[in-house]
Amino acid sequence: LAITFQGRVAIVTGAGAGLGRAHALALADRGARVIVNDLDVVAALEVRDMIMGRGGEAIADGASVTDKTAVEKMVDAGLRRWGAIDILVNNAGILRDKTFSKMDLADFEAVMNVHVMGSVNCIKAVWSHMAERRYGRIILTTSSSGLYGNFGQSNYSAAKMALVGLMQTLAIEGQRYEIRVNCLAPSAATAMTDKLYENEALAALDATRVSAAVLALASEQAPNRRILLAGAGSFEQANITMTRGVFLGAGSDVAEQLLDQLDAIADREDEMIPGCGPEQFRYEVLRARSGGAAMPSEMRG
Ligand SMILES: NC(=O)c1ccc[n+]([C@@H]2O[C@H](COP(=O)([O-])OP(=O)(O)OC[C@H]3O[C@@H](n4cnc5c(N)ncnc54)[C@H](O)[C@@H]3O)[C@@H](O)[C@H]2O)c1
Repeated sequence: LAITFQGRVAIVTGAGAGLGRAHALALADRGARVIVNDLDVVAALEVRDMIMGRGGEAIADGASVTDKTAVEKMVDAGLRRWGAIDILVNNAGILRDKTFSKMDLADFEAVMNVHVMGSVNCIKAVWSHMAERRYGRIILTTSSSGLYGNFGQSNYSAAKMALVGLMQTLAIEGQRYEIRVNCLAPSAATAMTDKLYENEALAALDATRVSAAVLALASEQAPNRRILLAGAGSFEQANITMTRGVFLGAGSDVAEQLLDQLDAIADREDEMIPGCGPEQFRYEVLRARSGGAAMPSEMRG
């Protein structure tokens, strides 16, 4: 079934360049009316004009996602013009790479602010509206640097993983309102990555190839609570899992036993993806109650 966004309204932040521009164009090409947000308002206007030139509808908006009031104004402008916001793609981002020992805390805060609070501000501005209409699709842009770490990116890694936590809980809270929230970890050749990739990788890493993941996650048929990875036409999923672990009880040498059993604790056979945080303690309490001998049957994955 072809995905269409006819009659839908989407906000894409950081849409003046790179991935955001590709996402905005892809959504508009499938019929979405798009609010093209970017701190660089000239770039946002260019993308708006590109969309209109292709026969689509768009508004350009120059709000910084870190500016709550400006973000609220952007959402109000969309509501006044089109009466709804159905889709929010949180994509705006910056880098301030340095090893942690050389990093200024101002650079740490700036990165946290744009990625984390920028996404929070935008989501907060649309959330109650989406909840009232019982419809919403929200995408948070995470990164492999957050999921798996990367040298020189402690600030960025912390911010990108914070977005995964935000997604996990909003996906749970949004369920009752038909708001579906997912994370996307892209890889693409953009201004942000111009020094990172080798020349031959650049062609394959076209940003437009990532936008297919945005179309899927923004669609009516979107999943909920996924961490989707996308780049060069490949798509993967990251999972936050919990292993079955071992029960060691409360003896005086538990710490020593734990070190001895690290491999058994890490064993991924039968690992679970908890549906929410409290499943950890439910599992642990059940296991302790059963003497730790066997994995409680009700907790089998
Ligand atoms: N390119 C990759 O391989 C890659 C990998 C992982 C994650 N990401 C993430 O994807 C997103 C897009 O990255 P990109 O590679 O297209 O980068 P980019 O630098 O090409 O584009 C980012 C855009 O965000 C805008 N922006 C920055 N701060 C803003 C703010 N406060 N308010 C509004 N707009 C702002 C910039 O002006 C720019 O146009 C980012 O969140 C980035 O962290 C990219």
